Amino acid sequence: MEKLLEVNDLHVTFSTYGGTVKAVRGVDFEIHQGETLAIVGESGCGKSVTANAIMKLIPDPPGKITKGTITFKNKALTSLSEKQMRSVRGVDISMIFQDPMTALNPTLTIGTQLIEGVREHQKLSAGQAKAKALEMLQLVGIPNPIERLKQYPHQFSGGMRQRIVIAMALICEPELLIADEPTTALDVTIQAQILELFEKIQAATKVAIILITHDLGVVAKIADRIAVMYAGKIIEVGSKREIFYQAQHPYTKGLLNSVPRLDVKGEKLKPIDGSPPDLFSPPQGCPFTARCPLAMEVCDKVYPNTTDKSKSHKVNCWMQDKRAQQLLKLTAIK
Ligand SMILES: Nc1ncnc2c1ncn2[C@@H]1O[C@H](COP(=O)(O)OP(=O)(O)OP(=O)(O)O)[C@@H](O)[C@H]1O
Ligand code: SF4
Ligand SMILES: [Mg+2]
Repeated sequence: MEKLLEVNDLHVTFSTYGGTVKAVRGVDFEIHQGETLAIVGESGCGKSVTANAIMKLIPDPPGKITKGTITFKNKALTSLSEKQMRSVRGVDISMIFQDPMTALNPTLTIGTQLIEGVREHQKLSAGQAKAKALEMLQLVGIPNPIERLKQYPHQFSGGMRQRIVIAMALICEPELLIADEPTTALDVTIQAQILELFEKIQAATKVAIILITHDLGVVAKIADRIAVMYAGKIIEVGSKREIFYQAQHPYTKGLLNSVPRLDVKGEKLKPIDGSPPDLFSPPQGCPFTARCPLAMEVCDKVYPNTTDKSKSHKVNCWMQDKRAQQLLKLTAIK
């Protein structure tokens, strides 16, 4: 599969009265055509900031991409002007958010919004654009699309509105869809339907998806690969199988132990004790040190290198470092 998007050494900060929040601290990942990459991690670890940085939607001020590159099909998004970026958003890369209402204009019919959305970027006649809008509503499973085009957002249920937002995101046939917690605001049965919809859309359009969620159940269902974020860094990345069955990082293992698994009955769930570090002055070493049952002296002092467990599985933890045996002889700090 061809590489679609590559993020290299991304750093994002926010200046606040309390100091500078180092929200994203050297993130690297890539996504290939037609693939679903899930980004998971606790609240505040930098998932949304990473996604917004790809779209260049970091509010500046207070935010800033201070370092790194984001490349989409050999185009360096990081050096595009806002005007150039407007022809990327919605056309090459689309993004959908948690709350469907924020993406819809309550004063316009959904037909108008879909038709304007596509005509802004493509030279289509009104009739062609309307046909495209109907086709998209059908794709996302809105019944009676001809009548529904004339209705306003408030006339739809939450789940239906999220379907319309997905239709709007896909109408210009982007190659990458970024979905930031797209089902969190919906009730459980509707969540499952929206996830099925993502699978159906991917089969029909071959769009690549970056799915941001803290719900590992969602990830188990539709991700191909999983990147685990902690305190502004990706600390482990691998195929779904590698992360679910061969997780190496103590934080990933902790996350997996803290959620119910469908295949294990009667298991004891164990939340991860403690909380993530302050991102105003994050630790120079491994940010998980304060919560990690395996932490060694070195962990607190030096950030661990990336260890390649396989071609697709990478982890940043001193326990995986070849020098670990030697390091273990150093004082364990717990
Ligand atoms: N506009 C902003 N101003 C100041 N700090 C910000 C701003 N936006 C994000 N941050 C900070 O950046 C860090 C990462 O936030 P982000 O929204 O990416 O977390 P997240 O992983 O998406 O969390 P959640 O799961 O709760 O959505 C947090 O510490 C957050 O407080
Ligand atoms: S580097 Fe050290 S503190 Fe960090 S996860 Fe690995 S063992 Fe734990
Ligand atoms: Mg978020």
